[in-house]
Amino acid sequence: MEKVIWTKKDLLGIEYLSREEIELILYTAQSFKEVTTRQIKKVPALRGKTVVNLFYEPSTRTRISFELAAKRLSADVINVAIEASSVRKGETLIDTGRNIEALNIDIIVVRHNCSGAPNILSRSVAASVVNAGDGWHEHPTQALLDVFTLKSKLGHIDGLKVSIIGDIAHSRVARSNIWALGKLGAAVTVCAPKMLIPEGIEKIGAKVTNDLDEALEGADAINVLRMQFERDSVVAFPSKLEYFKQYGITRDRLEKCKKNIVVMHPGPINRGIEMSSEVADGQNSVILEQVTNGIAVRMAVLYLVSHAKKRREQEKV
Ligand code: CP
Repeated sequence: MEKVIWTKKDLLGIEYLSREEIELILYTAQSFKEVTTRQIKKVPALRGKTVVNLFYEPSTRTRISFELAAKRLSADVINVAIEASSVRKGETLIDTGRNIEALNIDIIVVRHNCSGAPNILSRSVAASVVNAGDGWHEHPTQALLDVFTLKSKLGHIDGLKVSIIGDIAHSRVARSNIWALGKLGAAVTVCAPKMLIPEGIEKIGAKVTNDLDEALEGADAINVLRMQFERDSVVAFPSKLEYFKQYGITRDRLEKCKKNIVVMHPGPINRGIEMSSEVADGQNSVILEQVTNGIAVRMAVLYLVSHAKKRREQEKV
């Protein structure tokens, strides 16, 4: 690949990345993937650095894989338990970030219910900030691991037809995927009931349909999104059963698709609502591969932001 140098202190969203920067992350992740398969799954790339996981919302996959990624790079890792922290006493995000930074940390990985929270934090601290999901805005490392998995499976992204199906309105994963897939040359369709399609989504490069058959026809891959009951997805549809009948991915529906269609889901899955267990655990599903690939992709992101920061510091001297 062409020589591109990562210069960004942070990873805040896919919207702010060039195609070359996305490709650099995927290329770097490929070499870290090899590290994760070794008997001793560790390299000294971030030895002496400290990564803080600051998650204001629940997480299983993202939080654990950021922790593993940092540990595989030999960084020290602190997981902040928000419920047991001074956030409960009303401390602001900026004060929390500045106080964490005063403890000499290098990277803050933040998940927050407010869109734009990582951007605010990034302006308030010199440490690198990595967005682990902010409100309905972006989940950049999820999109990166999705395209990494798709590329590993199909060999390329350019020219693919990818449909994103489900609760688009409340989904940061949808937005980051539309940006990433579009920048890498895929054609993206989003499919959901009208109430779950946000206004203006086509402006960021997605074709819109409310017809599942149309979304599935000719698709090389589908990324099926969770109904976000904690964010009112449920008000958009009369019942979960109705949703499954009209938009749920079943084996019958898959049989009418391309034989090797790749089935993705960022997790956690609502089985029997957005897809059947047969599909989730079936031969087209790469859902657990996505989770595994999350470690290598997050290693790449932590490595790149850390080295860009080091380079900037050296240039100042
Ligand atoms: N995909 C994803 O963000 O999962 P978690 O909420 O478990 O991190």
